[in-house]
Amino acid sequence: MDAKAEALAAAAAVDEARLWSRQMAMAEIGATEKGGVNRAALSDEDRRARRLMVEWAGDLGFEVATDGIANLYIRLPGRQADAAPVVTGSHLDSQPRGGRFDGAYGVVGGFEALEAIARAGVETERPIDLVAWTNEEGGRFQPGAMGSAVFAGVLSLEDQLGLVDLQGVTLEDALAETLASTPGLEQRPFGHPFAAYVEAHIEQGPRLENAGTTIGAVTGIQGLYWYTVEVRGEEAHAGTTPLKARKDALKAAAHMVHALGGLMADETDTTRFTVGRFECHPGSPATVPSRVLFTIDFRHPDPAVIARIKPNIEPVCKVNAQGCAVSIRPTIDNAPLQFDPAVIDMVEGYAARLGHSVMRMPSGAGHDAGHINHLCPTGMIFVPCERGVSHNEAENATPADLAAGARTLAACLVDLANQE
Ligand code: GLV
Ligand code: MN
Ligand code: MN
Repeated sequence: MDAKAEALAAAAAVDEARLWSRQMAMAEIGATEKGGVNRAALSDEDRRARRLMVEWAGDLGFEVATDGIANLYIRLPGRQADAAPVVTGSHLDSQPRGGRFDGAYGVVGGFEALEAIARAGVETERPIDLVAWTNEEGGRFQPGAMGSAVFAGVLSLEDQLGLVDLQGVTLEDALAETLASTPGLEQRPFGHPFAAYVEAHIEQGPRLENAGTTIGAVTGIQGLYWYTVEVRGEEAHAGTTPLKARKDALKAAAHMVHALGGLMADETDTTRFTVGRFECHPGSPATVPSRVLFTIDFRHPDPAVIARIKPNIEPVCKVNAQGCAVSIRPTIDNAPLQFDPAVIDMVEGYAARLGHSVMRMPSGAGHDAGHINHLCPTGMIFVPCERGVSHNEAENATPADLAAGARTLAACLVDLANQE
């Protein structure tokens, strides 16, 4: 068989029912009453999900490895054992009340691609690795996409260890417990070479569904910026302290959020601005709030718009501080990026050859692929999700669309793993 025929043979071995049943088995871990998933990074549920992957890998004789931030690697060997692998993957952690597919599809669908390649009897030159990146969502420990950022050298592991979740658990402790839950694995260094990276993911928006298209050949990711804003005022008695004498951290923060909404106003509805966390201390009805923490998530695809808005975020907060102290800590600073043109062409080409409708599209969501794009030729494959709903327990996708994505992925992995 030539290389293209091998790629198509691997795609043909993708089993829709097997993929769906694994997807549902994974969705039971951390399942919520409303049909979603709550699987915080480095939690018991995350550890169970990892152990399930290790078990599946063991059943097929695939080797498993990890690294210092508990990224989990599963390897389909190639003829050249020491060649840099072609890699696929995504994440197993979810939003606090997230869906069954955001992240998990890229890991479980990637596993299906590995199994299909093996069952088709295809042996590639390079190994093919599946990776489950640690803490993509950033719901428990900020920032998100942490595992891939540390792997890529964008963040240092040491700087993350002291982070604490809302219960006061440190990342260092949660990480140690997670690493201990899959003992005896080979340890890989951060930044070990990848030949190429392709991540499969649900779209998390409505474009594919609205267009009646099955596969998105993802062209790039819009810019993504996170900040944590801390506003410090002064506790005071709610019944006796005149309003003029107060330093009310909550009122100041509310003004800031309102003013940021003005800064981000956009008739074209392209700018994305979200305050997803808002904590008020001490949180007593009769005490003027002394401390507020809130997060800013700002996204845009256009560097010119980003260059106009970003430098104004801090001044807008300071101008609206109303006598309180304000400090702003950036936690994510990801410029807009374009994926590798050859990988985009390949995704588009194999989707079409496999009989799937396909269109090029950018990603509105952030992904681990964004960090890996700096290391090797990278691309992504999107499949539709129902009504575009994501970061929501109602998130849904069809078995047929998930299988179409896994077929396209299997073909791309085989083709890339046979390249020099
Ligand atoms: C990923 O979950 C994102 O927030 O874009
Ligand atoms: Mn995701
Ligand atoms: Mn997500």
